[in-house]
Amino acid sequence: MSETRDRDDTYDYTTDEELERSTNTWMVAGVVLLALMAAVFPFYRWYEPGSRSDAREEQLASLAVKGEGVWQFNCSSCHGLNGEGGIGPALNSEQFLQSSTDDQARTLIAVGIPGSQMSAYSLDYGGPLTSEQIKAVVTFIRSWEPDAPDVPDWRAMMGG
Ligand code: HEC
Repeated sequence: MSETRDRDDTYDYTTDEELERSTNTWMVAGVVLLALMAAVFPFYRWYEPGSRSDAREEQLASLAVKGEGVWQFNCSSCHGLNGEGGIGPALNSEQFLQSSTDDQARTLIAVGIPGSQMSAYSLDYGGPLTSEQIKAVVTFIRSWEPDAPDVPDWRAMMGG
């Protein structure tokens, strides 16, 4: 029966002191684990928004690529291949890009400018483009913004 006693010796705490020591060991382990988690958490937080903004940049880049196709097919004939203007005003213009929000540009493109050659482009208004395509083309136009020249007002150039 010596085996049974051996096991009892291992698991039974003979004195309060031993019990306390064992409890302390577990508490220390718990505190260490907690400290470890607390230490790692900021790194997680730091990494996480980074990967989210990367994803957003990728999304914008792919929208701009789609938008370039929309632009070349639907808009460049009047506004120029690079938005430099023609029949329509220059859109590659610091003035235009800085004074209009994405929302305003999207609405304008969707609805058009009545009484001008700028027709409505949204399917809702009888045009050829989905709202996704309009969003894409606005993203593409925006991509000119960082180095858009300060093109003078097109209407002024035309003497209007
Ligand atoms: C048939 C020629 C023509 C085509 C094609 C055309 N536009 Fe226009 N667009 C114009 C003209 C002309 C104006 C100016 C109208 C006015 O203000 O009288 C204009 C105005 C605009 C404006 C407002 C500019 C400002 O300074 O307020 C935006 C934005 C615009 N067009 C975007 C587009 C986009 C995007 C497309 C393609 C989906 C497009 N246009 C296709 C002729 C065109």
